[in-house]
Amino acid sequence: MKPYTLIVAATKTYGIGINGGLPWRLPKDMAFFKHVTTLIPKTSPQHLQNVVIMGRVTWESIPAKFRPLEGRFNIVISRNLDYDLQGAPNTILVDSLEKAVALVDPERHGRVFVIGGAHMYQLAMAETHCSHILLTSIDSDVECDTFFPAINDTDFRVATHQELEAYVEQVVPQGVQLHKDIGYEFLLYIRQ
Ligand SMILES: NC(=O)c1ccc[n+]([C@@H]2O[C@H](COP(=O)([O-])OP(=O)(O)OC[C@H]3O[C@@H](n4cnc5c(N)ncnc54)[C@H](OP(=O)(O)O)[C@@H]3O)[C@@H](O)[C@H]2O)c1
Repeated sequence: MKPYTLIVAATKTYGIGINGGLPWRLPKDMAFFKHVTTLIPKTSPQHLQNVVIMGRVTWESIPAKFRPLEGRFNIVISRNLDYDLQGAPNTILVDSLEKAVALVDPERHGRVFVIGGAHMYQLAMAETHCSHILLTSIDSDVECDTFFPAINDTDFRVATHQELEAYVEQVVPQGVQLHKDIGYEFLLYIRQ
């Protein structure tokens, strides 16, 4: 099975969502998400397209005009295989994470990202195929009702900033950044 990366923005207490949406609006984090999930590494054939795997609730949280996420193969997970994707192109529905990952075709697909939500992160982090976690660590006590699983530091180590920049193939601001009154920091964890 191909390794995959979790990409998430979470508070220090691992809050990630509220009322089916995001608790914050961080334009630079959204731009980072788009860059990273779209990027085909220089060493890979450039005709490949990355895969984004998400739970049905996260799919519905994306405004209709922005889904499917463009330039990426979208896989939505639901127990209901009759769920209506409303004809979304370049998007497929499956009923398990295993089936989603099994759809990855090395001839067509580059990196694989699990993009949420809490249910998908929980399932995905438990598997050794989860090789990287890109965490935007958010310094805010905003209310959340949905949480990322705690990152176990015997399974994952924090990468250096150089490793993060090498992974995403771009300069990344180092340390805590500020957007209005919210501090945030881009971090990479690597399975050890
Ligand atoms: N901060 C971030 O980086 C970030 C990223 C993504 C999402 N979020 C937030 O997270 C929240 C959504 O997370 P969530 O945990 O509620 O939902 P989710 O993980 O996006 O989707 C949950 C759905 O996935 C399906 N599912 C769950 N377990 C399954 C299994 N074992 N087999 C097959 N299907 C399964 C079910 O769909 P059915 O009910 O259709 O069967 C379930 O309702 C939202 O607030 C969203 O904004 C935050």
